[in-house]
Formats: sequence, structure tokens, C-alpha cells
Amino acid sequence: MGDLACVNGEMMAPERATVPIYDRGFLFGDSVYEVCRIYAGRCWLEAQHLERLRRSLKELEFPPYDVDRLVARIYRTIREAGVDEGLVYVQVTRGVAPRTHAFPNPPVEPTEVIIVRPFDDGPSAALRETGVPVVSRPDIRWKRCDIKTTNLLGNVLANESAHREGAYEAVLIDSLGYVTEATHTSVLWAREGRVEATPEGPEILIGMTRHLAERLARRVGLPFVETRVTLPALLGADEAFLVGTSTEVMPIATIDGQPIGDGKPGPITRRLQEAYRDELRDWLAAPSPAPARA
Ligand SMILES: Cc1ncc(COP(=O)(O)O)c(C=O)c1O
Repeated sequence: MGDLACVNGEMMAPERATVPIYDRGFLFGDSVYEVCRIYAGRCWLEAQHLERLRRSLKELEFPPYDVDRLVARIYRTIREAGVDEGLVYVQVTRGVAPRTHAFPNPPVEPTEVIIVRPFDDGPSAALRETGVPVVSRPDIRWKRCDIKTTNLLGNVLANESAHREGAYEAVLIDSLGYVTEATHTSVLWAREGRVEATPEGPEILIGMTRHLAERLARRVGLPFVETRVTLPALLGADEAFLVGTSTEVMPIATIDGQPIGDGKPGPITRRLQEAYRDELRDWLAAPSPAPARA
């Protein structure tokens, strides 16, 4: 069991895989990606991630791309890697062509990379019990954060700066002072018994775990409301938490050193963590469609 890459259908150790210097993903960040959590050898929220990938490809006007073949390759990679608990990273670039800003004409074959690796949830599981410190940072990203592209330098710089301060994540604040999201997770919070989140739009990624959290909140009887919040308002929320593919539902203990609520995971966060686990347990108990495809 270990890391395994599948590059344009060819299996190889990730350390052996290389990118041609004319690959537009390398030159321009002209590429999209997805990350799925693998539980028991199956891709969690698979259909939703594939739908978001299709949308990203469409928004960037990629040429037609065979998503069914991608899915078959993903499952072959998971099987050959022998990974039960892991993550699958998928990246599709506009392909290899001499460097000009305009798209290659005629279009070239996209480059497709799949990387499967084991994931140890232990450290995150421990943090979910205590909550994590986060910091705020200016959101310096481009204006189409709803597309899941590999243009992640704004996220990378804020995340690095957070880590240097010993924080788990950076909550990003736009030029008007509103919270958008975090560098690799969505930010949700609770006020007066409601679960709240930044409205979907070009400023934030459409988060698959956020969508799940919305469904779970409604299922357990908590209103889910889209609204903008400033940093001071977020600091005054009853609870705040991060959601994401590998993060799941992670309580925020402090922002910039100031406790949220009493600085401990609150009852609404706990309720959603529980609902997440229940949903996962039911999904794992349902018959698996994966072997049929492999
Ligand atoms: C900027 C950003 N926001 C939110 C998320 C959470 O999205 P998801 O729940 O689909 O993993 C991610 C995940 O990569 C992200 O990069």
C-alpha cells in the first residue's frame, strides 16, 4: 500500500512522474483539480466532485474530456495502490503546446494526472475534539475562486503565513472586510441557532463538504442561511468551524488569538460532526458501486 500515480492512463510511482515543460498547467496554471476522500476504497461524494470538475472544465472552455474514463482510471489506481483510507488528487491541464497565452489551436489532448495516497485521519480526529486556532489574512486571490483551478498562490501564501504563526488555517478577508473562506476549507459559523455561510459566488469555491453540511444542518433541524459577515462579527459568533474534504467538520477555537464562544467545540458543531459521521456510516453500509466499474 502506498502512493501511486496514473499519468494519462499509465501507472507509475509519483516520484517518477514528470511534466513536459510546455505543459500549460506548469506554465500558466491552466488546469483544474479535484480532491476526493477515499473511505473503504470508495470515493466519498464522488458524483458531486465529478460534477464540480465538469463545471471547472466548462468554465475554462476545455475541449471535450472523457470523465467516465477518468473514473475508471481513478478506481484502477485506488485498487493498484491498495489504498482503503486515503485521498485521490486529480488534475487535468489544457495539455502540452508551445508557450503562447491563447489556447492551442487546434486543441491538444489534456494532460491527466491521478495521485492516490493513504491518509491518516488520526491527527485531524484529535484536533476535531479540541478545535483549532486560525488567523485572518487578506484575500488576495483572483476573481474566479469558484473555479477549482491550480492557481493557488493566494491560498498558498496565506496558508504558509498561518502555519508560521502556529495556526491551522487562515480565514480570508476580502477588500471590503467580509469573510470569504479559508485557504483550503470553507468557513461556517453559528449564530442564534442558525448555521451561516458566505453566499456562493465567484469569491469562494463551491465546497462539497459545505454542501453536505448544509444538507445535514437542515436534516437535524438547523436553519442554514447564506449571509456576509465581517471579521468582528465572526469573532462574535457563538461557534465557527471549517469544513473540507480531509478536514471534515473542524471546530475553530480561536481567530487571531481570540476565542470563539468559550473556545471549545460548541453544540451545533458537535451536532454536525455527529451527523457527518452518521451519513458516512450509512454510505459505507450501502452496497458499493465501485467493483462493477473497475
Ligand atoms: C479554497 C477552498 N475552499 C473550500 C474548500 C473545501 O472544498 P471541499 O469541501 O470540496 O473539499 C477547498 C478544498 O480544497 C478549497 O481549496
